Amino acid sequence: MGKIVVYDPRQDEMGFFKKHHEELGLDIEYVGEELNSETAVKANGAEAVTVPGSNNVDSLALKVLGEMGVKYLAVRSAGYNNIDSKAAKEYGIRFSNVNYSSNSVADFTTMLILMSIRKVKQIIARNDVQDYTLAGIQGREIRNLTIGIVGTGKIGATVARNLSGFGCKIIGYDVYENDNLKDVLEYVSLDELLSRSDVITLHAPLFDSNFHMINKESMKKMKDGVCIVNCGRGPLIDTEALIEGLENGKIGAAALDVVEGEGNVFNSDHRLDIITNRNLSILRAFPNVIYTPHAAFYTDQAVSDMVENALKSLQSFMSTGESQWEIK
Ligand SMILES: NC(=O)c1ccc[n+]([C@@H]2O[C@H](COP(=O)([O-])OP(=O)(O)OC[C@H]3O[C@@H](n4cnc5c(N)ncnc54)[C@H](O)[C@@H]3O)[C@@H](O)[C@H]2O)c1
Repeated sequence: MGKIVVYDPRQDEMGFFKKHHEELGLDIEYVGEELNSETAVKANGAEAVTVPGSNNVDSLALKVLGEMGVKYLAVRSAGYNNIDSKAAKEYGIRFSNVNYSSNSVADFTTMLILMSIRKVKQIIARNDVQDYTLAGIQGREIRNLTIGIVGTGKIGATVARNLSGFGCKIIGYDVYENDNLKDVLEYVSLDELLSRSDVITLHAPLFDSNFHMINKESMKKMKDGVCIVNCGRGPLIDTEALIEGLENGKIGAAALDVVEGEGNVFNSDHRLDIITNRNLSILRAFPNVIYTPHAAFYTDQAVSDMVENALKSLQSFMSTGESQWEIK
């Protein structure tokens, strides 16, 4: 079997690379830089490479990679829009993504729901200034609420199972219903979900067809004071409409792990910068809005899965010519 070059391994991935590479008996070389048209020559002689989801791999990098004899590439994330897939095809490089623990995002979502309905942002902010009063921080009990899950795939289903222990009413909307979930949730139309839910949590992938599915019009159908949670993708929500809804009280709380235009802001240190995404600054100032930097996936198990499945995908490509994770 050929050699694998691992580009840009993060510190937190290294232990998992060592563990899984020994278990799988692979020939691996590490390059501590991103894959680009200049560093692609470092894959000379390798059959396969792997890159993190944050590494944009453009057409030129893929061309050089092809010239180096590389046949396979594995992205260590579920998203693969960082790979120029047309160019990969053109230069004969087959590539794959990975799946990983759904509990990572589902547990985080469950936590955000609880934090929102129990007003934890305000409680912590007050503690920081030694204000231990109770006025204004009364919460709601989840067992008395209806939680609406939009998108009941791997993550949405795990959220439903997590929530089932709390005794709340769970309703779901998906373009394909999952019969195995009908013991914990009731499938309804999107309009019914919007009108009945006290908390709406988004777990559908982003497509052109559901861009801004949460907007001024859909908000009109919701209960007053509804809580909106988004651990899916930022553009599922029209952020301007969300801000307006928070300002006029229609939306009671929001918890967002993903926000429109997050790309240039999240996952890097901006302590000394003026943030150019104004809506983020506005949302941060609201006492009833929590946002986190696209971190819901980030657990030890998820990182281990990403590394293991990327290596397994390359091993499978190299030994059988196929991978269950291949993006075609
Ligand atoms: N915040 C994070 O760290 C993070 C991490 C991983 C994934 N995500 C997001 O979560 C999404 C869901 O992940 P998953 O693993 O559950 O995916 P999945 O493919 O298992 O499930 C997605 C579900 O959404 C449904 N769906 C598609 N279009 C829909 C629509 N318009 N309305 C309602 N349902 C619709 C599908 O039928 C499917 O059941 C991903 O696409 C990604 O955008 C976020």
